[in-house]
This record gives sequence, C-alpha cells and structure tokens, in this order.
Amino acid sequence: MKETIKRLVEAFGPSGSEHQVRELIRQEISGLADEVRVDTLGNLIAVKKGEGSGVKVMLSAHMDEIGVIVSYIDEKGFLRIDPIGGVRPLYEVMGRVQFENGVVGVIGMEKLDKRDQVPPMDKLYVDVGATSREDCPVNLGDVGCFARLMVETGKHLTSKAMDDRIGCAVLVGTMRELASSPHDVYFVFSTQEEVGLRGATTSAFGIEPDVGIAVDVTLSGDTPEPMVKMAVSLDKGPAIKVKDGGMLATPWVKEWMIDTAIKIAIPYQLEVLAGGTTDARAIQTTQAGIAAGCLSIPCRYVHSPSETVSYDDVLNSIKLMVAMLSGPVPVKG
Ligand code: CO
Ligand code: ZN
Repeated sequence: MKETIKRLVEAFGPSGSEHQVRELIRQEISGLADEVRVDTLGNLIAVKKGEGSGVKVMLSAHMDEIGVIVSYIDEKGFLRIDPIGGVRPLYEVMGRVQFENGVVGVIGMEKLDKRDQVPPMDKLYVDVGATSREDCPVNLGDVGCFARLMVETGKHLTSKAMDDRIGCAVLVGTMRELASSPHDVYFVFSTQEEVGLRGATTSAFGIEPDVGIAVDVTLSGDTPEPMVKMAVSLDKGPAIKVKDGGMLATPWVKEWMIDTAIKIAIPYQLEVLAGGTTDARAIQTTQAGIAAGCLSIPCRYVHSPSETVSYDDVLNSIKLMVAMLSGPVPVKG
C-alpha cells in the first residue's frame, strides 16, 4: 500500500488539473472494475457490479489538491499567483511551487510593515529564475501545486497532498480487497472538491445512489496547543463523521459504520468538525436527498505541504470499508 500512496501523493493535481492523478489511479485499479468511465467534469467512475440483491453505493474521494494559478507576470519575470482552494500564505512562504511542465519556483515575499507579520497572498510572488516576461517558462493561467516528496515520520506518512490522495488510496485498497459485495459499488475519484465539491455534485446527480460515503481527511486535535480543540487523534483508528460545517451524517449510515467497526474489532473515533465539509455533503443534497456519511482519516497540518496521517489508520479504514461493503446495508431507520 505504501508504494501506491507514494505514487498518488507525489502526483500533480490542483483542482481542475487532475488528469495525471486520474491516469495513475486508472493504472492502479486496472482489472478491478466491471466498468470504468470519465465524465465531463473529469471524475473517474469505476463500477464493481454486485452479486445479489444489494443497493447502489457511491464512494467518493477527491483527486484534486490545493494549489495556485498564475495571475500576472511582471517585466522582470516574477509571477503573481491566486490561490486554488484554501491556501494559507503562512504555510507556503519560502517553499516551492511546481508547475505542470516541471518548472519549479520559490514562493518569495515582499517587505512587510512588521517583520513577523503573516503575509497576505498579494505580498507573495514566485521566482522561477526568469529575467523578463519573454523568457518566463510559465504562462498566465498556468497552475501549480506545492512541491514536496513523501517522507515517513515514525509510524506516520507526511506529504503535500494527503488531502485527499489518501482517500483515493483507501478507495484503491478497498477495490483490491473487496472479494464480493451484494451491492453495485460506484468508486468515484472526484474532481474540484477544494473549490466547492464540484465533481461530486455532478457525479452524485448522475449516479443517483441509494447511499453515499465520502472518504476524506479531517483535522486532529492531538498536537501541542492545537488550532482546533477536537477529540480526534492519529493512530486511534478511522474517524466516523457525525457532523461538519456542511453536513449532518444520516444517522443510519453513521450507525452502519460504527456497528461494523465494533464487529470487526478495529479502533474507531467519532468526528465532530466545526468548519469545512466533504463530497458527502454534495451527495446528501443531490436529487431528492440521498443518505450519506463520511469516513475520515485523521490528519495533522491539513492544507500545508506536510499533511500527516497514520499508516495504521489508513489500513483500518480499508478494513472498515471492505467489511461494510461485504454485507447487506442495515435496515434504514
Ligand atoms: Co482540503
Ligand atoms: Zn479533502
């Protein structure tokens, strides 16, 4: 699994430019689905047909990551950038941006009023070593992601794009491990989540599942003076979402996840997140309403170049998904 994770998290894929990630996933799941298609928004939809009288289940993990887009190039060849998704200048300054054509640039910063002030986005620029607009190796409108290789930090894995390639990896692992299911399972690798759940919105509408589950990261509250007070820690198992800023999980879906975790004796925790949301919100509110929940992988330093998850939590998330899909869905309460 670690090799798959490394390949996925190091790939280039800001929102709207997920094609490299999509091709990698296509290779990883080759031969595992009955049908694979790509829709207009770029969502990769792999269907595993059920053996029996199951329901239609949609799983969703987003392929895109936060990034930047070139908004202006000055006469000396320095770039100005706009954020794609929830970019925080504090986390990115003096780091590096990589563009799709391979060009790498340093994220520099203008002089600030106060020395230790957090820079606003418009004080940042990218230095790609150009000397003029003419010799600049990137163009207006080119997109970039933050450049950082994956490292192992003890039992944890650290990378620029755990959000949400680790969810993609959990879906890939689930496809590999799932021997048989009574359900038609739609594995959706979605696009443009970071800019407003756009891929999940259209794919859920098209699939019209009976139940949907997003697999995404959530914040953890287990570091010194954490930014949010939260009862989620790394290494304590997958977090079963109760609510976030955009969704209240459908009660029977949440219970299905909890009961299964207990049955197969894996650790789990409950997640109550104040802000932010996932593809599950888009699924739940499509059509005339769809039952939905979310399996969250606890993550430190979300939306930074060093997003960190527990490898054990990842393996337990796959076990939970496989066990849930192997049996019938509970009677809907
Ligand atoms: Co995110
Ligand atoms: Zn995410």
